[in-house]
Amino acid sequence: MSRPKGYVDSGYLRTVGEFVKALKLLSYDHMHIQAGQSVLDVGCGPASDTIELAAMVGPTGTVFGIDYDQSMIEGAERRAREAGLADVVKHQRADSAHLPFRSAQFDSCRSERLFKQQGLVEIEIHPFPLVTTDLAFMRQATVIDETERIARAEGVITEEKLNHWRAELKDADDRGLFFAVMLQLLAVGRKPS
Ligand SMILES: C[S@@+](CC[C@H](N)C(=O)[O-])C[C@H]1O[C@@H](n2cnc3c(N)ncnc32)[C@H](O)[C@@H]1O
Repeated sequence: MSRPKGYVDSGYLRTVGEFVKALKLLSYDHMHIQAGQSVLDVGCGPASDTIELAAMVGPTGTVFGIDYDQSMIEGAERRAREAGLADVVKHQRADSAHLPFRSAQFDSCRSERLFKQQGLVEIEIHPFPLVTTDLAFMRQATVIDETERIARAEGVITEEKLNHWRAELKDADDRGLFFAVMLQLLAVGRKPS
């Protein structure tokens, strides 16, 4: 399939997944999962969370993951098989705008860095600042190479200014002074019963 703008691969998702691990765990807490429940992860990527969720629903529960990228689904299914969880964790290709499930099929649902839902109540937003001192990681996590390339192509920044900015960051990194803060927002809501 053609790759949409902003496409990120499974290697990227694994690296950033580690960085936002605490946020992921917080989102699981808010699902109030109990053994035997059926839960859904929308935009599941390469089973970034479905395998973790399987431990929470247990052998009598079910975790569904959907993603519109077939290669993510293939990777997710392979990882679930390798983890011996093929009976509990199911992944299938689907679009979040047209979910192939009946209404109220799931006890809870999560969606990370892909949130399109309406009519929720008791919505809470939890700001979650993440700090890093690793410049190379930050460049990867923010896909800054691509942003710089486009900024150059569109004439937003000159080559000279870009080089100057990069040199300043490298200098700060070399001297152990680089840090960056990424603000993540965890949105939690409930469907009215
Ligand atoms: C930023 S990634 C997050 C993946 C995973 N939740 C994680 O935390 O690693 C967003 C995922 O949503 C998927 N995605 C984007 N738009 C989608 C849509 N309309 N329907 C289903 N999946 C979608 C992408 O293919 C990608 O795997």
